[in-house]
Amino acid sequence: MSPAQGPVLADSSQSARGNVADVTDPAAALARPGDPGWWRTGVVYQIYPRSFADSTGDGVGDLPGIIEHLDHLAGPDGLGVEAIWLSPIYPSPGLDGGYDVADYSAIDPLFGSMDDFDRLIKEAHRRGLRVLLDLVLNHTSDRHPWFEASRASRTGPEADWYIWRDPAGTHRSGRPIPPNNWLSFFGGSAWQWDEGRRQFYLHTFLAQQPDLNWREPFVQEAVFGMVRGWLRRGVDGFRLDVFNALLKSSDLASNPPGRRLARSPWQRQRHLHDKDQADLLPLLALFRSMVDEAPGRMTVGELFAGDIGQAVALTRPGHLVFDFELLGQPWSAASFRRTIAERERAFGEAWPTVVLSNHDQSRHVSRFLRTLGRQDQRTHDAVAKAAAVLLLTLRGTPFVYYGEEIGLPDIRVPNALAIDPPARRASWRFPWWNRDRCRSPMPWTGDPGAGFTTGRPWLPFSPDHVTRNVARQAEDSDSVLATYRRLLRLRAATPALHGGGLRLIPSPGEDVLAYERELDGGRAVVAINFGLRRFVWAPPPGSWKVALSTGPRAVGSPLGDTPRAPQLEPLEALIALEG
Ligand code: NOJ
Repeated sequence: MSPAQGPVLADSSQSARGNVADVTDPAAALARPGDPGWWRTGVVYQIYPRSFADSTGDGVGDLPGIIEHLDHLAGPDGLGVEAIWLSPIYPSPGLDGGYDVADYSAIDPLFGSMDDFDRLIKEAHRRGLRVLLDLVLNHTSDRHPWFEASRASRTGPEADWYIWRDPAGTHRSGRPIPPNNWLSFFGGSAWQWDEGRRQFYLHTFLAQQPDLNWREPFVQEAVFGMVRGWLRRGVDGFRLDVFNALLKSSDLASNPPGRRLARSPWQRQRHLHDKDQADLLPLLALFRSMVDEAPGRMTVGELFAGDIGQAVALTRPGHLVFDFELLGQPWSAASFRRTIAERERAFGEAWPTVVLSNHDQSRHVSRFLRTLGRQDQRTHDAVAKAAAVLLLTLRGTPFVYYGEEIGLPDIRVPNALAIDPPARRASWRFPWWNRDRCRSPMPWTGDPGAGFTTGRPWLPFSPDHVTRNVARQAEDSDSVLATYRRLLRLRAATPALHGGGLRLIPSPGEDVLAYERELDGGRAVVAINFGLRRFVWAPPPGSWKVALSTGPRAVGSPLGDTPRAPQLEPLEALIALEG
C-alpha cells in the first residue's frame, strides 16, 4: 500500500508500446537530410498561451489567437524561429497557470478546442514551424480523475498512483505528523493530510498539485499512452516540467540540512531524497525510446534547482536540459564570461540550451536594467538588443520568451493582487517573487486592448505598451524587433553561429565580453560591451567584416586589419564574419 513499493521502473511500457510508425507525421516532411537535429540548429520560441493573443474578447489568450499571429514567428516577415513551445494548454483549475493539469489529453476550453489545436499544428507546419507541448508529469491537479480515484480508496486500482503515506505519529493536539521533513517548493510542508484516506499525500508544489508515483507501472503506462496520443496528433516534442523530480527515494527518507543561512526554508535542506534519484536516467531512456518511435522529435527537461553538472549528466541526443545558470547572471561581462567558461568546460561535446527569460523569472531586460541602474528607453532598447546578440550567438539552443523580441519589461503587480499562488503567501518566512510580472499580455499594437484583446486583459499591459509594441517596432528598422529578425536570419545563414564551437577571447576591459564561434573553418566573432563607456577592441587576427552591429557600425564594413582598432560604443554588440 505504501506509495513507493512498486517495482522500480519495471518496463511496463511493453504493454503500452503501440505502433506509431503509421502515424500521420507532418513533421517528417520538415526533416532535412544530414541535419544534426532541428533542435540544435534552430531557435525555440516560448508562448505563454494566456498572454499571447485573445481571439474571443475574454481577456485571456487562446489557440486561435496564436494561429492568427503565426506569421509573426515564421514566413517571410516572421522572426524566423524553428519551433514554438506552448506552456500548458490542458484543462486545469488554473491554480498554477495551467501547471495543475486535470486532463492531459484535452484542450482547456479557455484556450479553444481540439479542432483549434489540430488547426494550429497544421498552420504551424505549413510555415515550417514545429510545435512543442509542455508535459507536467511530476504532478497533476487534485481535480484530475486519477487523483480523485486514488483519494477515494486505499485499495482501488489507482490507490498507489500518487505518493500516499501513513502519518509518522500524532501530535499531542491530535494532529497527524507528516511522514518526513520534505517541504513544498511553494511553501510549507510537502505533505497534505487527507481525511478520507486518513493518510498524507505528497505535493512538491501546491497542495492542489499532488505528485504522481512514477514507481507505479500503471502511471508510466497511462502517461506514455497519453504522450503517444499527442505524437500521433503531430506534436514535434515536449518540454518536461521539473523532470529531475519525477522520482523520489523509495524509502522517503528525510532530507539532511542544507545551506543554513539560505533565505527560503526549502533551500535550507539538501534535496537528496525528494529529487535527482539515480534511476531517473533509466526512466529518461525509457521515455526517450518511446518518443523516438516517432522520428525527429525532441524533448527538453526543466532542471528543478540543479546546476550545470546535473544538466550535462541528463543531456542526451535529442534531449536537452534547461539549466538556469545564464538566467541567474546580472548584466556583467565578467559574470557571463565566468559562466560561459564553466558551461563550455562542463558540456564539452554535449549540447546546452541558452535561456535568459521564461514564465517564472523576471524578464531579462528588466533584470539587466536594474543591474545597470538605468531605466530610460534608449538604454532599455540598447540592453535588449545586446542581450539578444548574447542569447542568439552562444553555443546551444536558444529559447526566446514571447515579448522579449520587443524588449517587453516586467510589470508591477503587488503581492496583495497577485494571481501567482506562492506570491500570495509570500512573507519574510517564505520569500517569493511574483511571477505575474513576467506574464503580461503581448502588446501587438498601441490601440486600446493592444491588439491583444477586445476585453479586459487578465493581467495589465506593460506601462510602455502604447509605444513598445509589435506594430510600432515592425515599422522601425532600428527597433529591438528588427534586431531580432536580422539576428535570427544571420544565425540561420551562418553555420559557425548555430553549430560551431565557442572560444572566449581575452577582452580589453572588464565590461567587454568577446568570443569566437568556428565550424569547419568558418569563423564568426562576437563582442558585447556591457558598459556605458567606449572601449577600443581588436578582434583576433583575420579579415573580418561586420555582419551585425547594434551600434552605428555599417554592415559589411571591415573590422581589424585597419590602422585603428575599432571602438565598441557603450552597450554595443557586434558580430563579424571572416572573409
Ligand atoms: C515549473 C514551472 O516552470 C512552473 O511555472 C510551475 O509552477 C512549476 N514547475 C510546477 O509545475
